[in-house]
Amino acid sequence: MATALHAPILDWYAENARDLPWRRPEAGPWAILVSEIMLQQTPVVRVLPVWTEWMERWPTPAALAAEPPGEAVRHWGRLGYPRRALNLHACARAVTSEHGGRVPQGYEELRRLPGVGDYTAAAVASFAFGRSHAVLDTNVRRVLARAVRGEEYPPKATTAAERKLAESLLPALDAPRWAVAVMELGALVCTARAPRCADCPVAASCAWRLAGRPAYDGPERRGQTYAGTDRQCRGRLLAVLREAHGAVPKAALDVVWDDAVQRERALDGLIADGLAQVLPDGAYRLPA
Ligand code: ADE
Repeated sequence: MATALHAPILDWYAENARDLPWRRPEAGPWAILVSEIMLQQTPVVRVLPVWTEWMERWPTPAALAAEPPGEAVRHWGRLGYPRRALNLHACARAVTSEHGGRVPQGYEELRRLPGVGDYTAAAVASFAFGRSHAVLDTNVRRVLARAVRGEEYPPKATTAAERKLAESLLPALDAPRWAVAVMELGALVCTARAPRCADCPVAASCAWRLAGRPAYDGPERRGQTYAGTDRQCRGRLLAVLREAHGAVPKAALDVVWDDAVQRERALDGLIADGLAQVLPDGAYRLPA
């Protein structure tokens, strides 16, 4: 049953894969690591311009490692979840000082890099080094939840059962291509809210479709509200610091958010996370 998914999904991918720069043969391990960290919580269309600029500016880990962390935060732009920029900067420094400037090949070594979790380590080991790993991103988990388990959505956090299923599905040949093919099917066809089952290469055997596409009945899924949140407030404050070259007076931050209590909390959060620094004169800047 399991392997019945392979040929249709791989054939579909051959016809429908997007030409993304980090999937091209010339993309090296650093380009792939940068892409995977950027893509963690952010759609491809938003990542493309930022990734392209990063790779021009910092084509190697050593190039980024030579800069202060604030430059990584500045060039992260509006991708969101900017702690990822600090993690990537810390990765660049670790790769430079501990791995001779080369992204390590093995899952375990990758996993020990700052901000590299199971997904990113498996993705980089697969896509950059051709290793065979279960690559469990949100798209892959949703495809497997539907096609095999007959459920609309996967559980909130990855379970041992999901991992076991994904590992049982790893093909003997070209596991990286299988991983990216399932990911692409989840991104383009088996989407979260409006799956296009009519265009799906495994619709005929999909457990969820065959069950009549039952609605998800697990615990409530995380909402996407952004307006008015601390995250939005942090984003506004950080945008001021990014666009300034040098330190900015507190007054320049005060004007971008009305609610003073929320604004101070957000600012404290940015400092605690290492995304901003306060100078003795009370001015703020990106981390030096
Ligand atoms: N190709 C390789 N990894 C990817 C990802 N995380 N998202 C979209 N396309 C990818």
